[in-house]
Amino acid sequence: MSTQTSSSYSQFVADFKTELKVTSPGRINLIGEHTDYNNGFVLPTAIDKHIVFQFQKNGTDICNVYSATFDKMLQFNINQVSESDKEWENYILGVINQIQLRGKIIGGFDCIIESYLPMGSGISSSAALECGLAYGLNEMFNLGLEKFDLVKIGQKAEHTYVGTQCGIMDQFASVMSESGHVILLDCESIDHQLIPADFGDYQVLLLNTNVSHNLADSAYNTRVSECASVVEAIAKNNPEVTSLRQATTEMLAAVKGTITPVAYQRAKYVLEENNRVEKAVVALKEGKLKELGALMYGSHDGLQNDYEVSCAELDFLAAFSKDYDQVLGARMMGGGFGGCTINLIHKDGVEAFVADATKAYKEKFNIDLTSFTAVPSQGTATVSL
Ligand code: GLA
Repeated sequence: MSTQTSSSYSQFVADFKTELKVTSPGRINLIGEHTDYNNGFVLPTAIDKHIVFQFQKNGTDICNVYSATFDKMLQFNINQVSESDKEWENYILGVINQIQLRGKIIGGFDCIIESYLPMGSGISSSAALECGLAYGLNEMFNLGLEKFDLVKIGQKAEHTYVGTQCGIMDQFASVMSESGHVILLDCESIDHQLIPADFGDYQVLLLNTNVSHNLADSAYNTRVSECASVVEAIAKNNPEVTSLRQATTEMLAAVKGTITPVAYQRAKYVLEENNRVEKAVVALKEGKLKELGALMYGSHDGLQNDYEVSCAELDFLAAFSKDYDQVLGARMMGGGFGGCTINLIHKDGVEAFVADATKAYKEKFNIDLTSFTAVPSQGTATVSL
């Protein structure tokens, strides 16, 4: 496996004869954070910001994957795929490995990747990368994989080569989303329901803290095991309980003295958050956006104080928004420790709110805030050439 120097890339791009073009979107999550790996509920959807992939077969055993965004080339032999010491390469190699583990044959190919998703912003550029690649290879080499296989391939790549024990939300949203809808996903049964994202005069606005504290990966895996430890404690008396999804507040109260206070807090948050998602779905269906907004604030509060995956920058932005009547709700989004807040805001209020938040954030942290609106959009798809 080798990484070439940048001088040879322009020829690679100039000679490229695109056979297939794929876009794979980032995602938002209205509510239901850190519930997916606890088999709970989430409410995500793909957005109108993508990674774009171009593919061509090259008739050899060599694969050349060029990241135009980072001007980096990954080259490897398709018959000798193994983990790399570079994180971005592991998303690619992990996907190939997972496809091969399913007995599917891929030949040599070339790929150009251009990302329009800010990295580390909690909109899951990683799932977009995994799913877009898996989708493209499935099409190019007629692998016969179903959409849900692509979701699992992306998630497994992350568990193995990347090393994050993520849930299924991001990959599911990236592949399965439909324009104008959010997905209510039951992460236990994998049943899902498309719900019209009918926000009326309101819209989704993301405020990017532009921080990504490097705690994120290890803290994520710690949360996964803290939740598992509570399940284990509950299962001693309730063997039917295999995840926090089946746990009740009574069951949790019964083991309170046998688990650490921190583990208790984590599980309490998860139970409450699942509840909030169910209420949020009703509110959204009934057009009660104020209620939806209040649930979003409740979610942030739990993530900040009980689940402890927020950070000062996110807390500041969520609190700041409370002074604006036109913001119905705000919360940190995604894994946490940086990234974006998701805000449900009246269209007329966006400009003034962004200007004020940018100024206040700069004063407080000396960091430039960036913002973008996110429109519920179609999942990973082929683009006609
Ligand atoms: C990351 C993970 C998801 C999910 C969120 C938190 O985005 O990849 O599986 O757990 O964090 O809700």
